[in-house]
Parts: sequence; C-alpha cells; structure tokens
Amino acid sequence: MAETASERAFDTVERSERWWAYAVALIVVFLFAVIIFTGLHWAAQPPSNVETIDASRLHLAGEFMESNLGTAVQPDGSAIVRVLAQQYSFVPQCIVVPTETSVVFRVTSPDVVHGFLIAGTNVNTMVVPGFVAEVRTRFERPGEHLMPCHEYCSVGHEDMWARVKVVDRREFARTYGGQPRASCERR
Ligand code: CUA
Repeated sequence: MAETASERAFDTVERSERWWAYAVALIVVFLFAVIIFTGLHWAAQPPSNVETIDASRLHLAGEFMESNLGTAVQPDGSAIVRVLAQQYSFVPQCIVVPTETSVVFRVTSPDVVHGFLIAGTNVNTMVVPGFVAEVRTRFERPGEHLMPCHEYCSVGHEDMWARVKVVDRREFARTYGGQPRASCERR
C-alpha cells in the first residue's frame, strides 16, 4: 500500500525530532563530562567556603573586630589574614604577608557585595555580607600587588583598593614578628 502524503510528512517530522533528541542528549553528556573533568582534574569548585556570620555585629565582637584585622602568624608557621571589605575601603589598607608561607585570607563585608582580587595571583572571590570568604594561597617572590574591589559597590567603588606587600619571610619575622596582627598600614 502506498504511503499517503501525510504519512510521509509524519515520518520526516519524527526523524528530525529524533535527531534533535540525540543532539540534545549528546550536548548534556558533553557538559556533564566537562563539569566532572574540571572538578576532578583542575580541582575547580566554588571559590568560597559556606560560612555565615552576623554582618551587623562585625565591629562589636569576634573574629573581624578591628584589633583582629591584619596578618596573624599561626603556631604552625602559616599565616591567616583577616580583612574587612566595606564601602569604600579595605581594612587594613596595606596587607603584609611573608614569602614561601601558606596564607589563608578570610574576608567579610558589613554592608554590600565587594570583590576581593590580588592582581597577578590566583586570588579572586566575591565578598558577600553575611558570609566569610576564604582563599588559600602562597607567595613565592617578594613584591607588591594591587588589590582592587572588582564588584560594583556604589559611588565610591573605583576608589576602593588596597595593596598587598609580600616580604621575604626572614625579613617578615624580623620586622613584624613581635606583632600579634601585622599590617603595613601607616598609623
Ligand atoms: Cu567595593 Cu566595589
């Protein structure tokens, strides 16, 4: 029995529908493969830990009180740098860190979303009020890096930046060794 014109049209549509279904399935499989590959091979993951903090009480008590900001050398020799990102400055304005040392940056905001980026390094994250952003890194060579806010945070955004001074770890111990919280801010 000969196919009618409408049966032929139906076959054509069905074939093209099936072709598109295969194509979409292939794209989905490819994207999953990319996610799994980057996750495992490059250790790609959301840049921050999920750690919450009460953004309205940062200055009153706890980790991000003014006296706790800056670089603190830990008993194991590593360094923790606590930074406040606020409209429109970073505290401290000048961050000092030793070379060849594992450094953890812990950053939070009392007001709006800011950006935390250290030029020339892999440090780059958002600073969201209510959360603590944590970034681990290591500086091999002494030098100075700019640290601009890279999330638009209102009218003073372009004036919001700080400096990161990397000093040789022996010099760091000599100059800042006696301070519980080091920074290169002029007081
Ligand atoms: Cu802070 Cu832009």
